[in-house]
Amino acid sequence: MAPKWKEQYSTGVWWQDKQHRELFTRLGTLLDAMERARVREEIQALFEFLESYTIRHFTSEEASMEKAGYSGRKAHMNEHRKFLQELAALKSEFEDDATLALVIKVQRQLVDWFVNHIGNMDKSLGAFLRAQEAKHQAVVNC
Ligand SMILES: [Fe+2]
Ligand SMILES: [Fe+2]
Repeated sequence: MAPKWKEQYSTGVWWQDKQHRELFTRLGTLLDAMERARVREEIQALFEFLESYTIRHFTSEEASMEKAGYSGRKAHMNEHRKFLQELAALKSEFEDDATLALVIKVQRQLVDWFVNHIGNMDKSLGAFLRAQEAKHQAVVNC
């Protein structure tokens, strides 16, 4: 079942929310294709499509953490690395054996990861970035 974006996932940072919505869409498209047992090449391409956008998103967050001097940067980056490893493992598992069990695994591991990561680490980062922006605005308005 395709994951649905919920307002409660919002970090309050527009570009993070926009990218997270796109990640949900790409993950949903992949799961949908897997559930419908579409041709292998199509699913393979969707794995790559998801992977490329995930890398782009993680790069955006990591650059903003570095720029803002965010203290939780290292732990946050470790979670990102872990996700990319899981994604790569599932992708190669799919190349060997595309089963319904794998669809459930993708659902459990990737969707659950996103929901937990956004709800914890990304929301903390979003709050930090918003506080920094507010501080910056206060200085500009002085
Ligand atoms: Fe993140
Ligand atoms: Fe994120």
